[in-house]
Amino acid sequence: MQQPAKYLITVAITLGLLVIGAVAFVCSGLYNIGADDHHTRPVSAIMQTLREHSIHSRSKDLAVPDLNDPQLILKGAGQYAAMCTECHLAPGREDSEIRPGLYPQPPNLSQMRIDPKDAFWVIKHGIKMSAMPAWGFSHDDATIWSMVAFLQKLPDMTPAQYKDIVARAPPDEDMPMDTGTKTQGMAMPVTAASVASPAIGASSATSR
Ligand code: HEC
Repeated sequence: MQQPAKYLITVAITLGLLVIGAVAFVCSGLYNIGADDHHTRPVSAIMQTLREHSIHSRSKDLAVPDLNDPQLILKGAGQYAAMCTECHLAPGREDSEIRPGLYPQPPNLSQMRIDPKDAFWVIKHGIKMSAMPAWGFSHDDATIWSMVAFLQKLPDMTPAQYKDIVARAPPDEDMPMDTGTKTQGMAMPVTAASVASPAIGASSATSR
């Protein structure tokens, strides 16, 4: 047999064996899918790198609105308090019941600042095989930008400042939603936000 033909056959057999091996592994049940069994370092590193590049390449051309707009920040405070603190915590909130069991661990967003474009993309689209939901199914872009604006201020807030802004924020139920009811099903009723001043809630409901 000619040299190139031999080479091709060897490559084909090797690839075939690799595919058979991979299928056998997938079907064997050997892999532990439990969230309390963590990835090995190399797998973690690959996933982390993939995640960063995937998000960044999709977020880099987004046009960022004025994130210092006080109304936008206030609106984001109510959204964040209603939907995000169980996983991402808040000033004065050290832990939650759900957090220790989540893998990957949600970052503590009261202690770190995420690039606004990346934050918008992740909030809108979520992250596969993690607990981070795609909020874009139930929230329009303007509402998502309000959360991004709030997140930029959050790490500088004291527990008292956080409590105060959430109490003044328009409650989450007040928000016009793209597709209606999906987030209303969340088992986290607005507590602080629902006692917000009716005047602020009413004016913001009509301003959008
Ligand atoms: C059920 C838990 C859960 C809820 C609720 C949740 N998240 Fe997340 N979030 C996660 C997890 C887990 C990650 C990390 C995923 C990863 O690292 O792959 C994440 C990642 C993020 C990131 C990206 C951080 C980074 O390092 O790039 C942002 C921003 C974010 N979430 C914002 C929010 C906002 C805003 C809300 C509320 C609207 C929210 N999340 C609600 C679990 C949650």
